Amino acid sequence: MRHLLEIDDLSVAELREIIEIAKRPPGSLDPVLDRQGVACYFEKPSARTRNSTEMAVVQLGGHPVHITPAELGIGTRETAADVTRTLACYHRAICARVFDHHLLEEMAALQVIPIVNLLSDGAHPLQAIADVLTIEAEYGPVEDRTVAYVGDSNNVTRSLALAVGMLGGSIRIASPPGHQFTDVDRDRLAGAGVEPDYLDRPSDAVKGADVVYTDTWISMGEENLRDDKLKAFEGFTVDDKLLAVNPEAVFMHCLPAHRNEEVSDSVLDGPRSRIWPQAANRLHSARAVLYWIAGQNPAAG
Ligand code: CP
Ligand code: NVA
Repeated sequence: MRHLLEIDDLSVAELREIIEIAKRPPGSLDPVLDRQGVACYFEKPSARTRNSTEMAVVQLGGHPVHITPAELGIGTRETAADVTRTLACYHRAICARVFDHHLLEEMAALQVIPIVNLLSDGAHPLQAIADVLTIEAEYGPVEDRTVAYVGDSNNVTRSLALAVGMLGGSIRIASPPGHQFTDVDRDRLAGAGVEPDYLDRPSDAVKGADVVYTDTWISMGEENLRDDKLKAFEGFTVDDKLLAVNPEAVFMHCLPAHRNEEVSDSVLDGPRSRIWPQAANRLHSARAVLYWIAGQNPAAG
């Protein structure tokens, strides 16, 4: 059984296959989820991920069921294993957005239903696939392109670095001390053949890059760290002054943006911003992943 918890669950060829499926018109794909359910479990809020995943399920002929923690009571009403086995009775896949990545691993280890990560503290793979689609729409193949990520080294950064790096692109990451990737993160990337340039200064990352990418400094669940993080990230805002060191690069952000914290309004809403095509690509990413997962895990009977 195949799952998608992080980009490096895929081989390079499989990642490329999913990207190419995502570029196909929805009508050209077989409705592989015909009359089947997909459980969409959300422990955190979502605009893009919930809507793109549900619509992707619909486009593939299936029925998404939105589920909240209050209903399932994982760990209080029932164990994670019992919930997973229950949902496997009705659904073709579980797509889940969770606080703790280990919960996804626990569900996947049961091998009773494919698990797709819709964002955890560790990773955001469907976002990274949409990001590659956005970069390739702009420039063609991502290999030989350079993405400069400026800000918090987080779930989005991990998946982005893996996707861009595995496909042969270059990635630079500029984060302040205390908010950079750990050795464990760096080893995991290196294990996938991805060796980012780790930089301290945003302008060093941005110079000569094709894409400048940032994400919030305060991820969901980190609100208690807000004051400390705002101090730590001083000087890391992607604003007109930073973009001026590179007159060519486009700007990307997974959204939601904390306007005028990690990015200025002028950059988000400016001519170099690609945030809306990027958001639109979440639908193509979700559809491609579900189509691929269905193909890897044929329906029983
Ligand atoms: N980028 C992203 O995952 O957005 P949502 O949190 O709105 O789903
Ligand atoms: N790093 C952010 C991404 C939101 C899509 C978070 O985890 O909240």
